[in-house]
Formats: sequence, structure tokens, C-alpha cells
Amino acid sequence: MTVLVTGGAGYIGSHMVWELLDAGESVVVLDRLSTGFEWAVAPEAKLVVGDVADKELVGGIIRDSHVDAIIHFAGSIVVPESVADPLAYYENNTSKTRTLIETAVREGVSHFIFSSTAAVYGGAGLEPVREDARLAPESPYGLSKLMSEWMLRDAGLAHDIRYTALRYFNVAGADPRGRTGQSTPGATHLIKVACETALGKRPFMQVFGTDYPTPDGTCMRDYIHVSDLAAAHRLALQRLRAGGQSLVANCGYSHGYSVLEVIESVRRAFGRDFEVKMGDRRPGDAAAVVANSDLARAELGWTPQRDDLDQIVADALAWERILTSKNSARG
Ligand code: UFG
Repeated sequence: MTVLVTGGAGYIGSHMVWELLDAGESVVVLDRLSTGFEWAVAPEAKLVVGDVADKELVGGIIRDSHVDAIIHFAGSIVVPESVADPLAYYENNTSKTRTLIETAVREGVSHFIFSSTAAVYGGAGLEPVREDARLAPESPYGLSKLMSEWMLRDAGLAHDIRYTALRYFNVAGADPRGRTGQSTPGATHLIKVACETALGKRPFMQVFGTDYPTPDGTCMRDYIHVSDLAAAHRLALQRLRAGGQSLVANCGYSHGYSVLEVIESVRRAFGRDFEVKMGDRRPGDAAAVVANSDLARAELGWTPQRDDLDQIVADALAWERILTSKNSARG
């Protein structure tokens, strides 16, 4: 049995590949390498460079490698980009996922794990959001993912395929063993941006808005360590293989940190100050987005091991340093 990981050369996907290999699984990665990196794929995994919507290619991989499960990370993930170019998001995220599901059904792959997002919810309140909260994506990105969840639901009713869609909150950090991490240039994610600023890769960073209805006026998010997220997928795989029914579950820690708390944590990890400017709100940001993760804990038996902002930040900073040396070695 082999697990096919799409987008396995990307940030979360490359952690998943290590998680599976560490658990003794056989892994094939399918990635176009449009934003991922060949070097990010663990050498023990087989890398196929190609598109998830290439039916012949994917069918061949499934048959040749005896794939029994697909973990589907490949997709576009930048919210403002999805607003500027919605059709590209519906093509790359929704349409190609449809084709991949069709190939899975045709080839008899009955376990499918899908990367979904907290962006399927509308502007959440300060309370942790449950899976049965109102679904009201505010961007084409969120809608492209929600439509994929719905296609999986309907395919699951009509065909022999069971799925788990995990709705990620704010994924951050890096492999604690330093094997992979967030490497895409031009990052916009808070922890990555703060680590880059600490290391002098940016002259300063900005806090987007200080007048939100939160305790310190800055936005609150539920930051989850990427290794805990990968572990949730592994548990979802085990559960599906054991006959578990389809499931949609949040992946977060159920508590939030403000932007200022995150920056303080980066200052502690770095040991020195760096320049932070207070700026205006960024369009589209909700005041708080925090998961209720009871369902993932109960159904997957998921017990996060790295629920500690300082550890997330320390791992992200360590990876940022590794990346600096990798990039300078490459010239
Ligand atoms: N922020 C700053 N300065 C920065 C970067 C971010 O103040 O330089 C703030 C943002 O305004 C926000 C918080 O830090 O309040 C977190 O921002 P991120 O960009 O790190 O993450 P988002 O919460 O905007 O987005 C995340 C995922 C998306 C997903 C979304 C769903 O990255 O993929 O959650 O809610 F769609």
C-alpha cells in the first residue's frame, strides 16, 4: 500500500511526507514544482513532477504503486490573489480537485484526505468556531475549498470513496528536526514574516491594525504547529483504513494569540529586538479566528504534542536560519 501525496514538495505536504515515512509508509509525491521545491521532498519518497488533473499520469501512479490513499495538498493558497484572479483559483483548486476525485473513484482509491481551511467560515467571532458554524467564505480561495468539500461529500454518497477534510487554522512552525519548513519566497504569514524580520531579511514589519475588539487591539489567530497538523492527517488515514466514515474536522488548538503576542514570542526566541511598525488594518482580516477542535480530538484521537507558541516560533526561526544557509550555498 502506498500513499499518494499531492503537493508533497510544498510547505505542509513536505512535512506530511516525513510524517508518513517516519511511520513506515511508502509514499509517492505528485507535484508540479510551481511553488514547491524538489529538495523539500524526502529522498525516500518517489517524486513525480506533474499535474493532479493529468488523469493518465495519476491513473498510472495509482496502478503502478498500488496507491490506497490520496492526501491532497496541491492547490493555490493566497487569499488576496484569489480575489484578484478567482477563475484561476476555481480552476486550480476546485476543477482540478474534481478531476483528481474522479480519477480516484475510477481507479478504486477509496481513502481521500483533503486540505481544507478555516476560510470556509465567514468572519468568525471571538468564540472558537465549530464545524457546524455558518459556512460563508469571504474569498474565492475559501469558496474553492468549500466546493471541493461538497464534491467529496457527493462523491462519497455515490461511490466507494470515504474522505476526511481537515479545516486548517493558522499553520506555522517547521519540522523540529530541521528537515523541511516554509520556504516559499514572498511570504505574507505572520510568523514567517516576523522571523524574516528578526533575521534581517526585511528591514521592518508591520502590525496590521491595532483597533480590533480584542484584548490588545490586534487580531487573534489559532496557530497550529505544522507537525501536529501532519499527525492529524496520519491519524485520519489510519481511521479511514480502519473503516471510519467520512469526516470534516477543524485543526487548531482552540485558543488564540494576538499579533503582538506572536511578535513578543519571536523577540524572545531571537533574543533581540527588531523593528515593528503599527499600521492600518489589512482588508479582509477578521478580528479573531479560533478553532473548536473537539471533533478532531474525539474522532481522530488527536492529541497535539506541540501546542506551545514559543515552540512553534522557535522551530520557525530555526528553519529560517537553515533556509538562509541553503540559499547562500546555492548562490
Ligand atoms: N499580520 C500582521 N503583519 C504581517 C502579517 C500578518 O499584522 O506582516 C496579521 C494579519 O493581519 C492577521 C494575522 O497577522 O491578523 C495572521 O495573518 P496571516 O497572514 O499569517 O494569516 P491569516 O489569518 O490571514 O490567514 C490564514 C491562512 C490562510 C487561510 C486563513 C483562514 O494563512 O491560508 O487563515 O482564516 F485562508
